[in-house]
Order: sequence, then C-alpha cells, then structure tokens
Amino acid sequence: EIYTLSLHDALPIYQPSKVKDMSLAGEGVRKIEWVQKHMPVLEHIKKEYEETQPFKGLTIGSCLHLEPKTINLGLTLQAGGAEVAMTGCNPLSTHDDAVAGGVDLGLNIYGWREQDDEEYYQTINMVLDHKPDIIIDDGADMIMVLHNERTDVLKHIMGACEETTTGVHRLESMHKDGALKFPVVAVNDAYTKYLFDNRYGTGQSSFDAIMGTTNMVIAGKSVVICGYGWCGRGLALRAAGLGANVIVTEVDPIRALEARMDGYRVMTIRQAVKEADLIITVTGNADIINGDDFKYMKDGCMLANAGHFNVEINRPDLEAQSTSVKEVRESIEEFTLKDGKKIYLLADGRLVNLSAARGQGHPAEIMDMSFAVQALSAKFILNNDLPVGVIKAPDEIDYNVASLKLKAMGIEIDTLTDRQKEYMSNWQEGTWIPSFLDFNVLF
Ligand code: NAI
Repeated sequence: EIYTLSLHDALPIYQPSKVKDMSLAGEGVRKIEWVQKHMPVLEHIKKEYEETQPFKGLTIGSCLHLEPKTINLGLTLQAGGAEVAMTGCNPLSTHDDAVAGGVDLGLNIYGWREQDDEEYYQTINMVLDHKPDIIIDDGADMIMVLHNERTDVLKHIMGACEETTTGVHRLESMHKDGALKFPVVAVNDAYTKYLFDNRYGTGQSSFDAIMGTTNMVIAGKSVVICGYGWCGRGLALRAAGLGANVIVTEVDPIRALEARMDGYRVMTIRQAVKEADLIITVTGNADIINGDDFKYMKDGCMLANAGHFNVEINRPDLEAQSTSVKEVRESIEEFTLKDGKKIYLLADGRLVNLSAARGQGHPAEIMDMSFAVQALSAKFILNNDLPVGVIKAPDEIDYNVASLKLKAMGIEIDTLTDRQKEYMSNWQEGTWIPSFLDFNVLF
C-alpha cells in the first residue's frame, strides 16, 4: 500500500513555543509544583497515565486559562504520551511565569498576559498548526476557529472537551444548527465539575480577587449578584458569609424563588443598581448592566463580572455616559459620570477571579476535580466511537473522581447492603415494612 503525503501533512509546520519571558521559568515551576501538592486526584491519574500511555502518538491542543493548574493538566496529558500544545482562552488571565515553567517542562505553549485580539487568535492558530487529535476548550473559541477558518485541521479531530457553561451553550446552539462537526464532551455538566468549581470555586476566588484588588470591606455592603445559577449561588453564599446584604437578580422564576428562600432579597436590576455598593454579574448572558442603569448607581459603586465573556457589563454604554476614565489602581478603572459620580469597573469587566491582577483563579483543590474530569474525558473520547453532538461525561467518571477525592481527603463513606440494594430495586415492596416481614427476621 502506498501512502501519499502532502507537504502539509509531512512537515511539522508548527512554531516553537511563544511566551513572554523564559527567565521566569524557575518561579513558574515552583508555582506548578505547589499546585501539584493540592491536586491529588489529577496526580493519581497522571501516575496511571504514565504507566498506560493512552495518548501515545496523539496530539492534544488546548485553549484554557494559562496558569499553574491548567499547566498541570497539560503535564498530565503529556505524561500519558500526548504531544501537548496550549494557548490561553482569555487575554488577561495568563500567568507568564507558569507558562515559562510549562515550556521548561516540555509543553508547547503560545500565550502571554495582555495579548491583543489579533495575537489572541494568532496563538489559537499556532496550537491548531500542531494538527491536534483532541481539543480541550474553555468558552469554545478554539472550536469556533476550527469550524470557521481552520477546516484544514477538522479531519484530524476525534473530539473535544468543553470546560465552561458558556462554551457548552455555544456548542449546543451550534449543534442545533447542524454546524458542529465532531463530538464534544460537556465537562462543565459533570457533577464533580459544576457543583464544586462553578459554586465554591467561583464564590471564593471572585471575592478573593475583588478584595485583593480593591482592599475593600465586604461586611455591611449591599452586594448585588446578577444570575443565580451555579456560580451565582456560590457568590451569594460567600457574600453573605462575609457579612454583606445580598441582593439577587434573575430572569428565571424558579431560581429567583430559590434565591429568596435561601434568604436573599430578589428584585429587578433597575431596583438593585440603586442600592448596590458592589455588583457582580455572572449570567453567561450579555448586557446585564447597560443603558441608563449606570445613572441610577450610587457614587462609588463597584462593578465586576465573573461570567465567561466581558459582555455582561456594557462598557461602551458606561463610556458614553462618562466624561473621563482613568486607571486609579491596578485592575480598577474610575469612570466619572456627567453628574460627577464615580463608578469603578474591575478588570475591564472580564472574569474578575482570573483577570484582575490579584486573580489566582479557583483553588487548586477545586480544579483538581474539574481537570480530573477533563483528563478522563479525553481518554473517553479516545476509547469510544461517539456521535457528533454535545455529550455528558459518563457517570462512571463522576463517581470515580468523587471517590478519589474523598479518599484523598481521608473520608470513608458507607456502602449499600444487599438488603438495601434489593429494597431499592423492588417495586412490589412498600415503603412501610412490618418488622415481622423483614427478611432478616424471617430467614
Ligand atoms: P447557569 O446557567 O447555571 O446560571 C446562569 C443564570 O443566569 C441562570 O439562572 C439564568 O437564568 C441567569 N440569567 C440569564 N440572563 C439573566 C439576566 N438578564 N439577569 C439575571 N439573570 C440572568 O450558569 P453558571 O454555571 O452559573 O455560569 C455562569 C457564567 O459563569 C457562564 O458564563 C460560565 O461560563 C461562567 N463561569 C465562570 C467561572 C469563573 O471562574 N469565573 C467558572 C464557571 C463558570
């Protein structure tokens, strides 16, 4: 049999890594080693992959926030035999030292903090030049570029994993329109991802970043959380824990009711902006604060976004109502409105927990589970002939990750007895069982 290779197929046409400063590698490696100590589930999978080499001969391309924990995911896939090429999914969230450290440890990485739009898409293309077999995306930008511009790479793709709610929504719409060309595992929709990462991760890391950036006290403040999804629930919980007067805005009546019963005040955004000292948007939707909303705000109101894209706070509308804008502190811009009021926008309205100068992202212990789901889902794509579409990660992955995490935490739980298993599966047995009919007594 004769194989004819085109020049494009035959030559490695990708470029070497492109980073800001390789002299930061030492500090980057130290940061990566620190998170490794707090990611026991991923480390367990890394060891297993080192032995079994599931990705040998394959290339995995990723578009994830470039920071120590994602670099550790890259190293896990590399340990499993993959060639790994990575870029960032947000121009403000890259940690240049961690990136240099990752390159030092053998990864191909393209990205640096404060890339402009053109550079952002250039580096996505540099990863695609590696002709990946599997994609790991966060927000679906890489998958969009693949379908819209890099159709030359499409034939290599076995499947992809998507990290976040916004990316899953985009891909579901794409599939509904018949545009999606390969299977995508919705990693976000795994229980061991959204119940912990979206809720406890976003809650803690957003307040961490907001307090570190502003040096502001939260106790006694009116904090408005826009959107009571998994992230919003976590943000409201932390705000209340810090002593804030929490207000929630929603468009879903069930979630609004849940927020009310959880003890928060619920009102429209127009009412809420009048009371707010701090507003955090986290809806995955656009224009949550826009138009005249800014005029109704109190002097000194702070605005932050924890949703994936910087479209939740309408910056052009805010600019249109301002006479001046200046950076008053790192990651804080002061907008002076026409009536002299000052409004503060954090991290350019990009997701605050990763984009603010003090943003570390979620704790490593949380990302341990999300990235364990990623690493196992990449292998799931490899081992199964999946249909085109957006697919939930199988329950076995969730139970495996949860069990490994409990074990790492030193927590043991009970298991069902045979009698309990039988009771749960027997539809004829009523919920009330007289003790004399109890099998254990009778036999
Ligand atoms: P979700 O779908 O569980 O919740 C979003 C909520 O926003 C829904 O309850 C929806 O009804 C509500 N909403 C939509 N439009 C609204 C409007 N105009 N006003 C008020 N509420 C509105 O989504 P989840 O998982 O909470 O994610 C939210 C966003 O956060 C997404 O963009 C996601 O990608 C992002 N995310 C950010 C993380 C971070 O580290 N900052 C981590 C995980 C997710």
